[in-house]
Amino acid sequence: MKKLIVGNWKMNGSLDANAALVTALQQDASAWHCDVAVCAPSVYLSQLKSLLQGSRMTLGAQDVSAQESGAYTGEVSAAMLKEFGVRYVLVGHSERRQYHQESDATVAVKAQRALAAGITPIVCVGETLAQREAGQTEEVVKRQLAAVVHTNGHCISEIVLAYEPVWAIGTGKTATPEEAQQVHQVLRAQLQAASQHADRVHILYGGSMNAGNAASLLVQADIDGGLIGGAALQASAFLSIIAAAH
Ligand code: 13P
Repeated sequence: MKKLIVGNWKMNGSLDANAALVTALQQDASAWHCDVAVCAPSVYLSQLKSLLQGSRMTLGAQDVSAQESGAYTGEVSAAMLKEFGVRYVLVGHSERRQYHQESDATVAVKAQRALAAGITPIVCVGETLAQREAGQTEEVVKRQLAAVVHTNGHCISEIVLAYEPVWAIGTGKTATPEEAQQVHQVLRAQLQAASQHADRVHILYGGSMNAGNAASLLVQADIDGGLIGGAALQASAFLSIIAAAH
């Protein structure tokens, strides 16, 4: 399957910086062998929608409300994201789970809202360092995915899944390709048990992926792309990762 490389800009950027970054990325786009998306802060979606017009890069958001509409101050609905040309939305990123107390059940409903609006949720799962050291990695990621399977049923084959070990995010510590592949294999098997179309689900790896380690991760059998934080903010680093994805 064609690989998918997604940049998660997190709470970074400005009107000027976004325009410069997108312009630098576009110059190289005709050589890409993979699909590419960037997940921008919601206030910049309008800017990105225009910047990406006619581009091979698609637009993503970083979160979506679990509610459909109404009195939920500060929230952004899936229907609103759709109006701004959003193709993907991250749900259950560990920073949302950690700082905003998002439960597995909330993440599952967010995925459902996205799917209902015609947006592909990129469902993030991953264990903390303490959980890894306690030998709980598989149990944790399976529990996180099970909630999404339970709520979304056969639509599960329409999601993108991202394995992001929390201890590898922003730390410069990456899971080894073998460690990552082992978890991806477990997640693939869980998807296969839930849907006969599981083989078409992209399972991305995220956590300190960079120009130096991308190729060795992306060559693994069940690693279908990357979810990139820090390195997605520098055109040269992000382009090197894109070049490694074929
Ligand atoms: P880093 O690439 O900065 O480790 O971030 C990974 C991540 O959280 C992407 O969603």
